[in-house]
Amino acid sequence: MDLKLQDKVVLVTGGSKGIGKAISLSLSKEGCKVAICARGEDLLKKTASLIQNETGNEVLPVTADLTKPTDVKLMTENVISHFGRIDVLVNNAGSSPGGILETLTEEDWAQSLQLKFMGYVRCCKEIIPHMRKQGGGRVVNIIGNDGVKFSYWEITPGAANAAGQNFTLSLAGQYGKDNITFVAINPGPVETERWDGLLEAMARDRNISKEEADRLSKASIPLGRICTTEEVADLATFMASDRAHFINGTMIEIDGGQRKAIMDT
Ligand SMILES: NC(=O)c1ccc[n+]([C@@H]2O[C@H](COP(=O)([O-])OP(=O)(O)OC[C@H]3O[C@@H](n4cnc5c(N)ncnc54)[C@H](OP(=O)(O)O)[C@@H]3O)[C@@H](O)[C@H]2O)c1
Repeated sequence: MDLKLQDKVVLVTGGSKGIGKAISLSLSKEGCKVAICARGEDLLKKTASLIQNETGNEVLPVTADLTKPTDVKLMTENVISHFGRIDVLVNNAGSSPGGILETLTEEDWAQSLQLKFMGYVRCCKEIIPHMRKQGGGRVVNIIGNDGVKFSYWEITPGAANAAGQNFTLSLAGQYGKDNITFVAINPGPVETERWDGLLEAMARDRNISKEEADRLSKASIPLGRICTTEEVADLATFMASDRAHFINGTMIEIDGGQRKAIMDT
């Protein structure tokens, strides 16, 4: 299937590693002009060159801290002045501290909402006006299945995800008339560089060994394994394309059925 992504301009937040890097590579392979952002400049530039060398398509690295509204504004201006437009925004940069109610601090809760939720809000607020002027656009929000299931040891990601999911559906209701459509992708556990750290946090918060946390995580998924970054990237690439433009104001879980199986663990 031709996804008709050739020459589309896409901004992927948190594109220097993990899921964002895999999505950026996949979109670049489809012929997109990709801009990626992150805070760490060295890795960001390294990732941009790596993808550009592999695909032959331009990748623009833009350093930004999405917890800062001024950075989001500057990043948007940079991408627009370089590529002239933004056809697709992939909101992906996010992380939330794991933990249980008794130990989570006010700062943990604020940190979770500050990036994982407000980072997405800030990017939409800056970029949607450009999409309206262009006559349309697409927003793909990488969120997480913690927003649609319970995990008492992951309540800050759960809250930030649920907020992001509602935000996605709400904007779809508002901007359809401007030909801007929205979709949320909800991964379950994904094998990124930080998976090991997530297992350690889960072991700590559930008072079990890391090996047991690993076993329980895999057992919570009917397929018995966790997702790869490429699997999320494949879905995000299709969702970013015009082929999926009519898929609007909805959420797609990519969690191997974990959401439905959580009660069994
Ligand atoms: N991995 C999973 O199991 C999983 C499951 C469900 C949902 N998700 C969601 O998928 C998304 C990607 O997760 P991941 O595991 O791929 O994350 P990751 O490997 O930790 O990568 C996060 C990316 O975001 C950037 N970033 C972090 N803080 C930032 C900030 N303040 N401003 C700008 N960029 C920032 C990072 O670069 P710098 O640190 O240099 O800024 C990096 O490029 C997240 O929204 C996450 O919640 C992940």
